[in-house]
Amino acid sequence: MSRIDELLAAMTLDEKIGQLTMVSAGMAVTGPVVTGGGTEAVRRGRIGSFLNLWGAETVHVTQRIAVEESRLRIPLFFAFDVIHGHRTTFPIPLAEAAAFDPDLWEETARAAAIEAAGDGLSIVFSPMIDVTRDPRWGRIAEGAGEDPWVTARLAEAKLRGLHGADLSAGDTVAAVAKHFCAYGAPTAGREYTSADVSERALHEVYLPPFAAAVAAGVVAIMPAFNDLAGVPMTANAPLLRGLLRQELGFDGVIISDYNAVAELINHGVAGDVAEAAALAIKAGVDIDMVARAYERGLPSAIERGLVEVTLIEEAVRRVLVLKERLGLFDDPYRRGIAGGAPGHEQRRVLGREIARRAIVLLTNAHDLLPIAEEIRRIAVVGPLAEANMLGPWAGAGRAEEAVTILEGLRSALANRDIVRAEGVSAGGDDVSGLAAAIDLCRSADLIILAVGETAAMSGEAASRADPGLPGRQRELCEAVLALSKPTVAILSCGRPLMVPWLTDRASAVLVSWFLGLEAGHAIADVVTGRFNPTGRLPVTWPRHVGQVPIYFARRPSGRPAAPTDHYTSKYIDESVTPLFPFGHGLSYTRFTLANLRAEPAALRPDGKLDIAVEVTNAGARDGQATVFLFIRDPVASVARPVLELRSFARIRLAAGACETMRWVLAASDLAFLGPDLKPRLEPGEFDIFAGESADPDRLISAKIRLTI
Ligand code: NOJ
Repeated sequence: MSRIDELLAAMTLDEKIGQLTMVSAGMAVTGPVVTGGGTEAVRRGRIGSFLNLWGAETVHVTQRIAVEESRLRIPLFFAFDVIHGHRTTFPIPLAEAAAFDPDLWEETARAAAIEAAGDGLSIVFSPMIDVTRDPRWGRIAEGAGEDPWVTARLAEAKLRGLHGADLSAGDTVAAVAKHFCAYGAPTAGREYTSADVSERALHEVYLPPFAAAVAAGVVAIMPAFNDLAGVPMTANAPLLRGLLRQELGFDGVIISDYNAVAELINHGVAGDVAEAAALAIKAGVDIDMVARAYERGLPSAIERGLVEVTLIEEAVRRVLVLKERLGLFDDPYRRGIAGGAPGHEQRRVLGREIARRAIVLLTNAHDLLPIAEEIRRIAVVGPLAEANMLGPWAGAGRAEEAVTILEGLRSALANRDIVRAEGVSAGGDDVSGLAAAIDLCRSADLIILAVGETAAMSGEAASRADPGLPGRQRELCEAVLALSKPTVAILSCGRPLMVPWLTDRASAVLVSWFLGLEAGHAIADVVTGRFNPTGRLPVTWPRHVGQVPIYFARRPSGRPAAPTDHYTSKYIDESVTPLFPFGHGLSYTRFTLANLRAEPAALRPDGKLDIAVEVTNAGARDGQATVFLFIRDPVASVARPVLELRSFARIRLAAGACETMRWVLAASDLAFLGPDLKPRLEPGEFDIFAGESADPDRLISAKIRLTI
């Protein structure tokens, strides 16, 4: 008999349910602690895992009780939200996505895993792979943006980094891909509301990153809080058991979101906690996070005949298998890394690199940036210059160790006169400092506006109906712009902010998102020209909230927008174009693309497509180009998007240099889901596009024909 079979045979019902119960630690002055009757419950085998309990010593104390004092000595696992770094806070995921660099995505995940494991953690609630096209939704900050293909690549990279080569190695953590599924499509962008997307959108947009994560060996998945067309994901048997487990072959653990099992009552699909517990376990949810609904509800659900014990045993088996895969039975303290994870300072170097790679230069009129030598006096105004740049979900990051924008600028521009005024508060109505700030600006050669959102304005439960500059920040900006001086706006934000009035009038605008511990240095690297910006938008940037959802993979419409034709697909009060397209991002040099070739011109279904494009650095500085490869199937049995992303790649080019970038696509990359939602290849012409963004006016194209 295997260890797991023996344990299952020896367990009481309460101990089985204990393995399915995850509780949260509390916070004390010294850090996370086990609260309430937690210790005793561990001793009695009533808890299988902890959330928010970390720190090598604290974990050790609790684990010791489980493996030495509980009857069956089953180790606990410890889980935490390590979303963009653990102790070393990296940029928020949306910002990291802007680097379009899977190797870096993997490296930051590896670093986070080393630090998290060093703190006794064995499971992290990431990657968040919810595609979203709605910047009203605060959690857009946590994912890779609007595109399923990009998000799938990010999922794979994060899994490589978190899982490492061997999950039991001691410096790795188990990843939890979340939130399954379509959480990124909440109605009206409002947190926790229903998603009601078509089967096609589900399969084309929201599922592919999860399919990629399963194929890449993800060991745990978290269902979303919301309901999908009326069926809460925590109780969604067709999608969890049917699609995820049976169709995609996922054999790992499904962990509910926080209190989500009990919330099935609020959703209106369960009358009491026993029904809620029965629905969740029947749907395939193995672990109940903090609701204690399995503990409270499963015994009576069994009595009432709502649930078979075998279902509970299957879930326990999956949990024990995960503990085994993590090596916890043999090394419950994960001795490989006990004593912490040294190397935080080196990881800050990685933090600075990824942070500057995440910055997107949106505009730069008259090449105002990088800041010229002649600029001697710089006024830094706005509420974000001294704010915490760790962003939402900063894990174990320490705000006091983070470099603010002001600190970064002061250290990089030590020979200039940098003056500072806040002007207005980030939110609220405090404009008492406005006049003084404008006075200060009058004597400056250059004004830097540090504006945007605070960390709490994005992330979970931070939906915004009007995603512009919060509070009275626009008044500050308008007053500064009225001075007609060279002005650079730095936007700190977890989402695209709809500020066309600012991007049109400021001399230069850069998006700095929330860049983590090294934010200030990274921003200074870019504005001083020490680093030539390379970040590109992973999300279409709307000009107005009324355009949401706006994304490049839209369908063509029977009446495509035509400016002079009234009855076409457009607004009568706003343009249909975004403020900035997906992929947009300037550099201090410029690139040109030419001679896109796709061969063979006649492709067979089992064939390969060789694609090449010449990229020239036509500017005066060395730099890095990012090139996106799109396809379009112009005539198909189901209307296909006007652009579908199939690849991206980066190339470093010295000033004046020209090189050829190459890709190989399989004919199967031209497939799509037919009317029956099954993959199919249809013969005919295809367009292949290459460009530095999804801006249709700047793409170059080639045609091929698929013959069947
Ligand atoms: C709720 C969030 O939706 C989820 O992403 C997170 O992992 C859990 N809380 C645990 O903190």
